[in-house]
Amino acid sequence: MKAEIENLSPDAAAAEHARLAEEIAAHDRAYYDDDAPRISDAEYDALRARLEALEAAFPDLKHEASPTQRVGAKPSGKFAEVRHAVPMLSLGNAFTDEDVAAFETRIRRFLNLKDDEALAFTAEPKIDGLSAALRYEKGVLVTGATRGDGQTGENVTENLKTLDEIPRRLAGNVPDVLEVRGEVYLSHADFAALNDAQEKAGKPAYKNPRNAAAGSLRQIDPHVTKTRPLRFFAYTWGELSEPLSDTQFGAVERLKALGFTTNADMKLCEGVEALLAHYRDLEARRAELGYDIDGVVYKVNRLDWQERLGFVARAPRWAIAHKFSPEQAVTKLNTIEIQVGRTGALTPVAKLEPVTVGGVVVSNATLHNEDEIARKDVRVGDFVTVQRAGDVIPQIVEVLKDRRDGSETVFEFPRVCPCPLKTPAEREVNPRTGEVNAVTRCTGEFACPYQRKEHLKHFVARKAFDIEGLGEKQVEAFYEEGIVKEPADIFTLAARNADGAITPPIAEREGWGAKSAANLFDSIEARRSIALARFINALGIRHVGEETSRLLARTYGDWTTFEAAAVKAADEGEAREAMLGIDGLGDTAVDAIGRFFAEDHNRAALKRLLDQVKVEDAEAVATDSPVAGKTVVFTGALERFTRDEAKARAQSLGAKVAGSVSAKTDYLVAGPGAGSKLKKATELGVTTLTEDEWLALIGG
Ligand code: IVH
Repeated sequence: MKAEIENLSPDAAAAEHARLAEEIAAHDRAYYDDDAPRISDAEYDALRARLEALEAAFPDLKHEASPTQRVGAKPSGKFAEVRHAVPMLSLGNAFTDEDVAAFETRIRRFLNLKDDEALAFTAEPKIDGLSAALRYEKGVLVTGATRGDGQTGENVTENLKTLDEIPRRLAGNVPDVLEVRGEVYLSHADFAALNDAQEKAGKPAYKNPRNAAAGSLRQIDPHVTKTRPLRFFAYTWGELSEPLSDTQFGAVERLKALGFTTNADMKLCEGVEALLAHYRDLEARRAELGYDIDGVVYKVNRLDWQERLGFVARAPRWAIAHKFSPEQAVTKLNTIEIQVGRTGALTPVAKLEPVTVGGVVVSNATLHNEDEIARKDVRVGDFVTVQRAGDVIPQIVEVLKDRRDGSETVFEFPRVCPCPLKTPAEREVNPRTGEVNAVTRCTGEFACPYQRKEHLKHFVARKAFDIEGLGEKQVEAFYEEGIVKEPADIFTLAARNADGAITPPIAEREGWGAKSAANLFDSIEARRSIALARFINALGIRHVGEETSRLLARTYGDWTTFEAAAVKAADEGEAREAMLGIDGLGDTAVDAIGRFFAEDHNRAALKRLLDQVKVEDAEAVATDSPVAGKTVVFTGALERFTRDEAKARAQSLGAKVAGSVSAKTDYLVAGPGAGSKLKKATELGVTTLTEDEWLALIGG
């Protein structure tokens, strides 16, 4: 950002500065006056960071009216003003571990500390509420104020007096003048209850606990505030007639002794590693704290050092807020695209203006289906909150309806597949319940080029043909060029390539070379013979996955027998009944198999494929398996497979399955509740395995 800003012309920089300053001021008003922010904290921070960078490059732009020169917003006029004897400032932000390290280095340099000189910090949660200042004179609460713009706040004394955690009177050894500062906030539970009550009373719900706390504190009538279970954490101070302690930690302890609630998660830390460890611990426990925090605040512990470090602009040099990476962010939804899956499901995907969420740039979010779009009233052009948790696909949490300007358009969910054939897409109706399925599905099956492409990807996947060097990306490229249109084409690729039918030849394409092309052809050759279960799985029949394919292979033993049964599966009759009789196969799968084999184009494609590959019989006992020739006993209540299934599988891998444990037993696979056999095996020193260990041994 720095270089880009430095390259701006002074005029362009001034124009951008003015625009940003105005935008930030508007957001400040929304936040402070209306308790109704229109953008996320992260977005706001980004705007400010940009403004600060502009001012760093063009110092002339820094004038008194700039938002960088003030904190918060001017008091609203709703309450009397309170001038803070000591300004209520803000905190600088750290976003990365490097920022924290730089913070420590800066302080060491500023104080001219030797490398081995101890430098301790307090590290405590950054509470997401609103700050308040409580002035006690001779132990009596005289004024309570909000931060306001940092210089002048609002007098909300009567409101603050209604909080249980704010003593009206302090006992013991109290300085004559003591200004306690801290955060007013609402717990998650109280926030939820408050919103329930708001809704029941027909009033608008608050957006988050912080806004609810601000709204509750800034009520004209203190009786209303009294009904709101606001809480208060004391963490710092303003004017003092005598010091509380010589350390930050000690001062907070004093506040606690005086009757204030202080945060139990404040920790004294030495060194960056210790700060980061506490940060990670709090981040991990964030959801369980029961109230919102948005980071961890680090403060130099020694108060004499705080004094020396002083302030820069609106923040102390001796403290920093290490923010959590937001797991939510607001961005614009540019378009909605429809993706077609292998089974023809039309999935709407929101194409977003890229935004960083939880440290990852997100530009797509799933919208699931037609009903979901309607339920959330998502329109093209909307600003939306996106959420990302762990590895899951980003989701759209909500639409920011108040940011609509009328240019948004309602998305018409397509009734045809987006593929060039424009096959009708339908929502299936369950024949038994009459329920309309949420999924809109393309009815083209193998005729639909999009589904065919997905089918091909599935065909080469690890659990299907598993062709080395031919992954999703390569298949997609070959498909789009028309070199591989169906599975059989994979097996004619080498020959066509050699004949010069493929131009340019594979070896001369981008990303390919003579060696990788030769390797590809070798690995395709190696798959001309394939196990029945893998072959069935590779067909990509709906509702027939890996497990069902294995069951079918074991039951029918060879392709011809299976195919004959499958062709008849659609008809009510013996063949269908027999298939339904297989433990683990239900109506849905059997129907899908029947439909698949009833389609002429599927049968034709299969025939072409079978001209190229040989499907191995399931009985063909593997001799290279890790359990070939071993004797296995199964006992206990097996949970991962039926006894018959376990037995068949073991046998197909060349193992002998015995009914009792003897010295000849190699493995005892024991499920829960295993008794005498387990005991005997242990006595005989036979290797015992859990079901999972067994599965791992035989490779799933
Ligand atoms: S210390 C001069 N400690 O964060 C520094 N602030 O971004 C005084 N906040 O206005 C602030 N938890 O509203 C401090 N443990 C904590 C805090 C905290 C939340 C808020 C406070 C402040 C803002 C600064």
